[in-house]
Amino acid sequence: MKVGVLTGGGDCPGLNAVIRAITRRGLQEGYQILGFKDGWLGVIKNNFVSLDLSSVSGILPRGGTILGTSRTNPYKNPEDVKAIKENLGRIDALIAIGGEDTLGVACKLVKEENLKIVGVPKTIDNDLSATDYTFGFDTAINIVMEAIDRLHTTAESHHRVMVIEVMGRHSGWIAIEGGIAGGADVILIPEIPIDIEEVVRLVKRRNERGRNFSIVVVAEGAKFKESDEFILQEEKRDAFGHVHLGGIGNVLAKEIEKRTGFETRTVVLGHLQRGGSPSAFDRVLGTRLGIKAIELVKEGRFGQMAALQGNRIVSVPLEDAVGSLKMVDTQLYEVAKVFFG
Ligand code: F6P
Repeated sequence: MKVGVLTGGGDCPGLNAVIRAITRRGLQEGYQILGFKDGWLGVIKNNFVSLDLSSVSGILPRGGTILGTSRTNPYKNPEDVKAIKENLGRIDALIAIGGEDTLGVACKLVKEENLKIVGVPKTIDNDLSATDYTFGFDTAINIVMEAIDRLHTTAESHHRVMVIEVMGRHSGWIAIEGGIAGGADVILIPEIPIDIEEVVRLVKRRNERGRNFSIVVVAEGAKFKESDEFILQEEKRDAFGHVHLGGIGNVLAKEIEKRTGFETRTVVLGHLQRGGSPSAFDRVLGTRLGIKAIELVKEGRFGQMAALQGNRIVSVPLEDAVGSLKMVDTQLYEVAKVFFG
């Protein structure tokens, strides 16, 4: 049996753990494992490598993906969908490792073309539904936490406000959990419009009680209450229609400095949050999800995705994962708020 695997969308620590688990477990089942290069692009072009024990040896601690990735959307061109049908017709199953976009394509291909695909959820943003956590997220929030720890000491020495912009296009999971772990004084997320007056009040209140520095964490997708506009790096959209976010940290820092008179600096963590070696949690989660994906293939349960619910790895329909995004719940935000200001 020939089983393909691809990694699509933004890369994420733990992808190699999944590829390794799929390969090791798949080989034990006697499957031939084919690694498609650069996400859906590799399937369109039928560009793959055969994965064996030696190709996955030593990759567990490595960040990124040995298969490469891209944000290719085959639904932009009917010829690409045709090529995918043809190329997947030559193999028995495909495991797609990705987030909302990659798995959204997988879901459509299963439904509309009856292709044999199972999914594995991936994103540092942790915003996929039907799974409690996606691998990559734990590594990202540890990076955020460590950055906040470091920024605390310099903020305190200079009596400054530090605004830290983190990833999170639609949801504020990285901001909220990274911020709680780092002891942030204000956390701003896409789910709750920014009230600049309130931010200023919190920063001033800290100052009044003798804490003359503050840490403000903001997700890149957060918007001001007064406008429904994202702050953008550029207007250009990717193949899935996403704009390039970034810049909210600077805008916010300027406003805080203007309204409080406190010296303010911005740090944009950017792709540092996606790079490097995965945490132990993400290695274990990725490994468990990869093994579950092979089980789903073996049982012929296509259109399903491996997921973490509680402490159990289960399977859920792909459409449950991509139908709507998982947002930060108010309970968690209330926890964070206890420490604001
Ligand atoms: O993987 C999702 C994400 O981390 C978003 O939070 C962010 O907006 C996006 O990736 C940026 O990715 P890239 O720069 O690779 O397009």
